Formats: sequence, C-alpha cells, structure tokens
Amino acid sequence: MDRIAITGGAPLHGDIAISGAKNSAIKLMVASLLTDEPLRLTQMPRLADTRFLGALLRRLGAEVEEREGPSGPETLLQTREIVSAFAPYELVRQMRASFNVLGPLLARTGHAKVSLPGGCEIGARPVDLHLAALRALGAHIDLHEGYIYAQAPRGLKGARIAFPISSVGATEHAMLAAVLAEGVTDITGAACEPEIVDLAACLAAMGAQIEGAGTEHMTIRGVSRLAGAEYAVAPDRIEAGTYAMAAAMAGGEVRLTGARAGDMEALLAKLEEAGVGVERLNDGLIIRRNGARLAAVDIETSPFPGFPTDLQAQFMALMSLAEGESVVRETVFENRFMHAPELRRMGADISVSGREARVRGVERLEGAPVMATDLRASVGLVIAGLAARGETVVDRVYHLDRGFERLEEKLSACGAKVRRLKD
Ligand code: UD1
Repeated sequence: MDRIAITGGAPLHGDIAISGAKNSAIKLMVASLLTDEPLRLTQMPRLADTRFLGALLRRLGAEVEEREGPSGPETLLQTREIVSAFAPYELVRQMRASFNVLGPLLARTGHAKVSLPGGCEIGARPVDLHLAALRALGAHIDLHEGYIYAQAPRGLKGARIAFPISSVGATEHAMLAAVLAEGVTDITGAACEPEIVDLAACLAAMGAQIEGAGTEHMTIRGVSRLAGAEYAVAPDRIEAGTYAMAAAMAGGEVRLTGARAGDMEALLAKLEEAGVGVERLNDGLIIRRNGARLAAVDIETSPFPGFPTDLQAQFMALMSLAEGESVVRETVFENRFMHAPELRRMGADISVSGREARVRGVERLEGAPVMATDLRASVGLVIAGLAARGETVVDRVYHLDRGFERLEEKLSACGAKVRRLKD
C-alpha cells in the first residue's frame, strides 16, 4: 500500500488548478444511465472513485470512455441499453454513492437489484431516506440478504417527498428517479449543496424540468425521455478548501485557479476570522498567510451553506497550531473524529467528547507515522504534516486517492516537500 511522506516547514507559493468536483462527477456519471444518447462530461477529475463507478456502469451496459478533450480530461458515457439491472456488493461496497444507480435503473427498466452499501468509516450512513423517496415514487422495495429488490412495472409516478433531515445523496437519488417519472414530484427538505445544483443543471441540459435546485423546495416535472448532452463538472469546493487550509497551515501565498468563492463562504469566513488573508477573484481565490500565528476559532459542521463536514478534519489540523482553544462540533456524521488520535500522535492537544472536539493550540507539531482512516481525515493529516517539524508518513493513502487528484504533484509544485512512497 502506498504511503505519502511529508517533510514539514516549507511555505507554499504558486498556483493550484482546482479539479472537477468528485461528488458532482460521480452523480453526473450515474445520470448518464437515464438516456440512450451520449453524455459528455468535461472537467472530469480522474480519481479512484470515478474509476470504481465507471466499472459498475460498464457492467450495467454503459460504454465509458475516458479521453483528453480540448479543455482537459473528459468522459463520454453512453448506455444504449441496460444489459443488467444488478449492482453487486463487491462494487457498491467500494463506493457508497454507487447505490444511486438504483433510481435510474428503476426509471429506465422498471426493476433493479442493488446491494446495500453497508457501513463506512464515518458512521452507519443508512439509506432509509433514499428508499422512502423511491417508495413515494411508487417503487415496491424488498430487502433480502443485503440486496434491495425494487420493482416499478408500470413506471415511477410523481409524488410528494418530504425529507425529515437534509441528505445530499437521498435528494440526488430522488432527482435521478423523478426526472423520468410520470407527473410532478414535489420535494421538500431537499439538500441545497452546490452538487445538487450541478446535477440539476446537467439533467436540465439533458431535457429534464427541475425548479428550485439549491433551495429546500424542488419541483420536478417528469418527461418521457432524456437526451444526450455536454456538461462541465463544477470545480471541487472541498479540494479548493483543502488547499486553502494547506496554504494557511504552511504559510505563503497560493492562487487556487477555478475555485468558486461563492460555494465556500462558510470556510472563507472562518479562515479570515483566524487571520488568514483571502482574496476573492472572478476565477479563483488567493490565500495568504504571513508568519503570524493564527487565532483559534470555533466551527460547527452543518449542511450547506454551513461549514462542510468534508472540511472538518482539515480545519482541526489547522487549529492544532492556532493560538488558544477551538471547539469543533460535528453535527452531520456521528463518528468523524478518527483523525484526532492521529493528530495527537503528532503532538496536537485534542480531547473529544461525543460530537465535540476541543483543540488547544500548541506551538509545534512533530512529524510522525500516522494512519489515514477516511478520505477527508487523511488529507487533514497531510496538512498537519506540512507544518510539522520533521517527517510525517501517512499510511493507507488509498483513502486519499479516492478523492484527491495528483495531490502530491499539486502541493510539490508550490514548494511542499511531499512524495509518494510506493510499496
Ligand atoms: C455526501 C457526500 C459526502 C459528504 C456528505 C455530507 C457524496 C458522494 N458524498 O454524502 O462527501 O460528507 O454528503 O455533506 O456526495 N442519512 C440518513 N438516511 C439516509 C441518508 C442519509 O439518516 O437515507 C444521514 C447520514 O447518515 C448523515 C446525514 O444524513 O448523518 C447526511 O448524509 P448525506 O447528506 O446523505 O451524505 P451522503 O450523500 O452520503
């Protein structure tokens, strides 16, 4: 298993081009199942997760071609016919979001057998809201031996769906199923994340009729068929936020080309409060930090437009060197502090109680061997390593490879001493 070694202490200077958003790209790839025509996705990130999903889609009948287009990496997807409506455990287990093929398979063929995703590192992550949405749309759903058997022999029907809590995946799943349902679907309690807006825009380019994406109330008028389209994946706000914190941690000045400040305000406001310089540009951001120590600030994760849970580990790493005590509250997932003991191995002073972590800033972190536990936690450890004295070696880097494209290359180009150790 590969590891990443970081020698701390080098400030970052340079430009980092932000890739297309992983969390958008995988849902857009799933949307390609809804039409027999080609969907061309540009600004595609090349990640382990997009590869996993490509393998699943091929098995369902899609042709998936990755190629270099005039504006960078793109993926051409076409599912002339669903050859199998079966998504096996070994593929769904590798990436939870592949569960979202269930809705499109049902919409297109009237039946599907899809494995339940199972637990993951950051909590139980049930799919009850996904299933409630599909049931509301008229699907019959049974569970046997870890598989969902779903039927909608006479097609899905528009319905009212009221989500009791905000779920990105369930909102997207409802959208992916409702666009081809007969009649109108009214969704309340919808998640408002930029990835929802991205999916809605791509579906609209394919001919879907969706109003209200990005708000808690969405209306979808079903259409009888969708067409092919070309769509550019939005820039990854989590990748951009991560590099913003890398620059804040290491010091220096970094331009994040393509980042959309409007999608990242919760983080940017906290960075400014801590003393980081943030300049908002039309096509990106500049993040600056002079030598001064950052001030401790508190965060609480919550659905968009709140502070993203996917940036919590990185912010905790940043606060471990701030002046004073910071309280980090995680309200989205129940088990998302697994990076705290790893940061403690580097000298951070963090105590966790339930959903709250208290981070008392220390003057110095020391490099250490640490272990990645999930995608975002692992990049938090890389950020800590950028400012630690000596060498930090992050093990289980496959977590990182799921969601960060060419991380060591992007950081090294700005002067960081980061290298991959191949096994
Ligand atoms: C997505 C993102 C993930 C991010 C998360 C929250 C993708 C591929 N992943 O995950 O990076 O951390 O949003 O911003 O886009 N829940 C239920 N029942 C359900 C579904 C969810 O109780 O049926 C709960 C979850 O356990 C969690 C909360 O709802 O506590 C929010 O989860 P959700 O927004 O669904 O996250 P994902 O879509 O899985």
